[in-house]
Formats: sequence, C-alpha cells, structure tokens
Amino acid sequence: MRKKIAAGNWKMNKTMEEGKILASEVVNMVKDELRSDVHVILCPPFIHLTSLHAMLEGHSNIAFGAQNCSNHASGAYTGEISAPMLKSNGEDYVILGHSERREYFGETDSLLAEKIDIALENGLTPIYCCGEPLAVRERNEQTDHVQRQVEDGLFHLSDEDFGKIVIAYEPIWAIGTGKTASADQAQEMHATIRKQITGQYGEETANNTSILYGGSVKPGNAEELFSCMDVDGGLIGGASLKSRDFVDIAKAF
Ligand code: 13P
Repeated sequence: MRKKIAAGNWKMNKTMEEGKILASEVVNMVKDELRSDVHVILCPPFIHLTSLHAMLEGHSNIAFGAQNCSNHASGAYTGEISAPMLKSNGEDYVILGHSERREYFGETDSLLAEKIDIALENGLTPIYCCGEPLAVRERNEQTDHVQRQVEDGLFHLSDEDFGKIVIAYEPIWAIGTGKTASADQAQEMHATIRKQITGQYGEETANNTSILYGGSVKPGNAEELFSCMDVDGGLIGGASLKSRDFVDIAKAF
C-alpha cells in the first residue's frame, strides 16, 4: 500500500523564530486533528532542522526532510550539506530535483541520479521532483519531458532501491503562480508515470510508489486533487508556510 503524504517545502522562508512557531503550530494541529494514516513531512531550510526535531518527539506521523543534498559524501565543497550529515541529524527524507534547483542551480538529471544514489546509500528517502515548463506543455510534449526526467534520474536503480522512492510531479507553470493543474491534468500525468514505472519495475512496485502533486495546492483544491486515483498527496510550497492551510490540506484525503 502506498503512503498518503502531505509534504511542506518551506523553500528559503522563515527565520529561526518564525520557523519554530510554524512547526509547533503544525505539530499541535496534526496531533489533535489528523488521521494517523496520513504522513506529514516538513522540509524547512537546513538550519532549522535540528531545533525543530526537538518538538517532534513522539509524533510518529511527522517526519523531516531536507530540500537538497550534495552528490558527494564529504570534502572540500564549500556551502554544501551531505547525505550522511542529514541522516546523522535524524532526517528521513530529502527533496531532489526540484525545478528551482534545476533552473537556478543548473542541476541535471545525471547529477540528480548521483544525488539519488548517495541519499539512498545513507538511508534517506528521496522525493524526486519532475515536471514540465509552460512552453513544453503548450507544445503538448509534457509526457516525453517528464518521462525522460523519471527515466534519467531514477531508472538506473535496482528494484529494491526504486521501491524506496517518492516522486513529486510539479508542473513548473503551476508553481507559485496560483494556477493549479486541473485534477484531470494531474491524474493523467500521474497515471502516465505509474504506467512507466510498471513497464520498468512491474505492477507491484508501481502500485506501491507514492506520487505527489505539487503546484499551487491550497485547502480549496486539495480534496479534488487527492481524490484522483493516482495522486497520493501533495508537495506544498506557499500554503505550507501557514499552519492552518497546510494542516487543512493534509486533512483533505
Ligand atoms: P507552491 O505550492 O507555492 O506552488 O509550490 C509548489 C512547490 O514548488 C513545492 O515544492
């Protein structure tokens, strides 16, 4: 059975104080209101991770993730954070291949394949992002675009390792724009990705892979998106910065 997941990607937002307040509000609401089969993942900036862990003792359906990691284990890579560091700090997840990292930091599928490997070697679960820009969607080439990202970033993995991956489909034209993919558009792409996984790894693995949707998910549209057969949750940006909105989204399953 695949997991239902609401993951909050805070991106580069919140000071230490603001982050503590947001996380403690989320923890309290999750504790009081959320079904226990929904998994919440908080992905704040690196520097928040350690202090926010302390708030989580005993909340088994909340986990932490980082927004990136290096493709190297250690060494002279100024400014980078490694997968072993994240694991040793208690992180369970790491977002890899977010479109903002692909666009602003030049991350390619082959670099991301290395990051996926080092994350898995260190016991982190990658949340691997894929998604097409507007121009690609306008040419109706989104399927090829996304399938190439999935294949080049992930299909070198063994059956066992692929079974640990979470995928997030985030059409770039829907990120931070207020423009959400329709439930039909999301379902269509998620089903396409699941079929692609079936072709490579078989039906059982495909059925067990959580595929999240990201791009302007809000309390008002989450229920319709999450009710799609192949949408297993959301990777939420802007709305994860407001505790009430984020938890309402997590309650939309
Ligand atoms: P928004 O929810 O702000 O559109 O961001 C989506 C996203 O990029 C999550 O990773």
